[in-house]
Amino acid sequence: MPEIRRVAVLGCGLMGSGIAELAARAGFDTHVREIDDEFANKGRTAIEKSLNRAVEKGKLEAGARDAALGRIHMTTRLEDLAEADIVIEAVTEDLALKNRMFATLDKLCGPGTIFASNTSSLTIAAMAAATSRPDRFVGLHFFNPVPVMKLVEVVRSIATDGGVFQQALAFTRTLGKEPVEAKDTSGFIVNRLLVPYMLDAIRCLEQGLASMEDIDKAMTLGTGYPMGPFTLSDFVGNDTLHAIAGIMFDEFREPRFAPPPLLKRLVTAGWHGRKTGRGFYDYSDPKNPKPMSLQLT
Ligand code: 3HC
Repeated sequence: MPEIRRVAVLGCGLMGSGIAELAARAGFDTHVREIDDEFANKGRTAIEKSLNRAVEKGKLEAGARDAALGRIHMTTRLEDLAEADIVIEAVTEDLALKNRMFATLDKLCGPGTIFASNTSSLTIAAMAAATSRPDRFVGLHFFNPVPVMKLVEVVRSIATDGGVFQQALAFTRTLGKEPVEAKDTSGFIVNRLLVPYMLDAIRCLEQGLASMEDIDKAMTLGTGYPMGPFTLSDFVGNDTLHAIAGIMFDEFREPRFAPPPLLKRLVTAGWHGRKTGRGFYDYSDPKNPKPMSLQLT
């Protein structure tokens, strides 16, 4: 098995920037591809901000931050990822888009390159089929915020080679994460359980069980969750939750995965959560979010 030295990350949004930061901090030469210079600059700024935060908190030496930043190479060209030993895709949850990228990279990269997807709800098999290397294709599902959450779900499809899977598990440990093994089923472990819970919370709100703040309060103070379901949905992105729910509903055809109408309304309105300043809560004052008036009665 070729050793992993050079890492490529496709997409430098919330998840991709976190993954690139981890790889660079772990000492890997890291090449990150975004669609244009504006997104590439935004992505690099997010990584810098996160590294600076680690320095301010005393978790990282300033020298180590500078070294990590020196290992990050932003690009807008897929060709610049050709020498990677592993490509980790973290673009929008859109199968056609992912498959177009993987099909192109399949031709550019050498036969030893491992392909990995950070998909949260699509199956690995559906992406591996777009390439000539289904045996070298795995899922690496990280959690938001990537620098903080310890878990990575490492997913093998029916076609993944056993040695490649072991290498992927070892790779997540070199990134300082704790892996769990999961089969190639939509949502893997965490989203299989977390998504119906968040959707149920929205249905409870639609049905008038309690106020949004009280449901959030109940789940934080009653069960020790760090965030209640509405705060978490805004944090993950209501558009992301909606997309994941749609994919999982298509896969399982079970009502518990169906996106509730209220979630759809929020997405249509552009209230995607923290990142757009509005969601279930209004983040005009980010330290003191106020519940939105959703006119449910
Ligand atoms: N980047 C780096 N570090 C961060 C961070 C970020 N974006 N956000 C918070 N942190 C660090 C802080 O620096 C702080 O570190 P310290 O303890 O060493 O000082 C620590 O995390 C705690 O942060 P805060 O004190 O600012 O705030 P909280 O105590 O409220 O914690 C939280 C914030 C870690 C986000 C916590 O609220 C939490 O764990 N929330 C749940 C997150 C969760 O469930 N994530 C998974 C979502 S599902 C998913 O990603 C799957 C996808 O497919 C949908």
